[in-house]
Amino acid sequence: MKTDWFIQSRFGMFIHFGLYALGARHEWCKTREAIPEERYDLYFRHFNPDLFDARAWARIARQAGMRYAVLTAKHHEGFCLWDTEFTDYKVTNTPFGRDIVREYVDAFRAEGLRVGLYYSLIDWHHPDFTVDKLHPLCPADVKWRESGGEKDPRVVALNEGRDMARYRSYMLGQIEELLTRYGKIDIAWFDYSYPGAFGKGRDDWGSRDVLALARRLQPEILIDNRLDLAGDPGGYDFITPEQFMLEKRPLVNGKEVAWETCQTFSGAWGYSRDESTWKSSSQLVALLVKTVGCGGNLIMNVGPTGRGLFDYRATEALAAFGRWTDANGRAIYGCREAPPEFATPSGCVMTWNPATRRLYVVVLEWPMGQLRFDFGDKVEYAQLLHDASEVIVKPRSGSLNVGGGHEERVADDAWTFELPVRKPPVECPVIEVFLK
Ligand code: GLC
Repeated sequence: MKTDWFIQSRFGMFIHFGLYALGARHEWCKTREAIPEERYDLYFRHFNPDLFDARAWARIARQAGMRYAVLTAKHHEGFCLWDTEFTDYKVTNTPFGRDIVREYVDAFRAEGLRVGLYYSLIDWHHPDFTVDKLHPLCPADVKWRESGGEKDPRVVALNEGRDMARYRSYMLGQIEELLTRYGKIDIAWFDYSYPGAFGKGRDDWGSRDVLALARRLQPEILIDNRLDLAGDPGGYDFITPEQFMLEKRPLVNGKEVAWETCQTFSGAWGYSRDESTWKSSSQLVALLVKTVGCGGNLIMNVGPTGRGLFDYRATEALAAFGRWTDANGRAIYGCREAPPEFATPSGCVMTWNPATRRLYVVVLEWPMGQLRFDFGDKVEYAQLLHDASEVIVKPRSGSLNVGGGHEERVADDAWTFELPVRKPPVECPVIEVFLK
């Protein structure tokens, strides 16, 4: 299946880079603060990520254990990170002057990672893109839900002369550039649809044409589900729950689908200097294993700074991922949720490699020496994954000293993994279980 490599990889890097890195306060700042074009243009005139080194980004991604990446070739602000022929609003016209998409694709491929490109369907710079509820030019008090905001005279005036048909052909031209100039592109991440009275969906984007073009130019490409083509057969290749941790594998019409959750280290996607809600290393590892334990992929986002660097918090978080995946990668690559006959021990998450038939018990809450579980009769051998030290498996049934000189039978027929009382000095240790 064309999704095989994707499902095997399990872990990727999202990179949100654009003019908003200079604002350093959310990639939506243009809309959130209704920043006028002339003011936002300062970021264009000052865009100069002089320390940008795509090879360093690629190395950090690989060392974190990531196997693919997706870069925002164009985000909602409309600024293009490549030397497109269709607009002047592009990186090669900034003081920086280099084609970032080119350098990214070459560097990540050379590092052995698959490469993807994100392309925003939304465009707050293009003169033909009609003003809707999310547009920076939309007056804040337009009543979209109640009366259909597109009829508001201010919106009507703003939209005079704007022509989505021209915008659609602009998109097709740009997508064709991205999918023909840079060799094999593994993922196209289109973002996003918000159909309904105040938004845009498949007809506004010409989603079927976009999809057909991408499939024709790159037959093996994987496409996300944000083109609003959920009802079309082959309308997408994977689904994309955002900033949300699933409890079990999502099914579509009762069937398994490839899925990828996108997550940030802190609240925003673009570089956000003052954001302080950074997840801890153990939360990050838990996010990765829980995702794989529900049969999905995690794409973890980095928002590089205006100098073109991953900031110190992102670098530390990626290093933590690397420490964990170096030792415990076997618990994620090629893995999925455990078969239902294996109940998850308390405080743990389980993953399963169907090819090697090994089970991985990731211990999120370290127990007091013994970890109770109930499938011991199926276990041949168990070890801590990071150092291959044996974990003795014992039947728990039998005598138990209940104190006061009494011995009592334990009623259940559980088993225990005999773990050291002190948690080994690694984040979220893993028990690798070889089955009979
Ligand atoms: C959203 C946001 C956006 C981010 C994306 C990533 O839809 O608009 O800023 O790029 O999700 O999934």
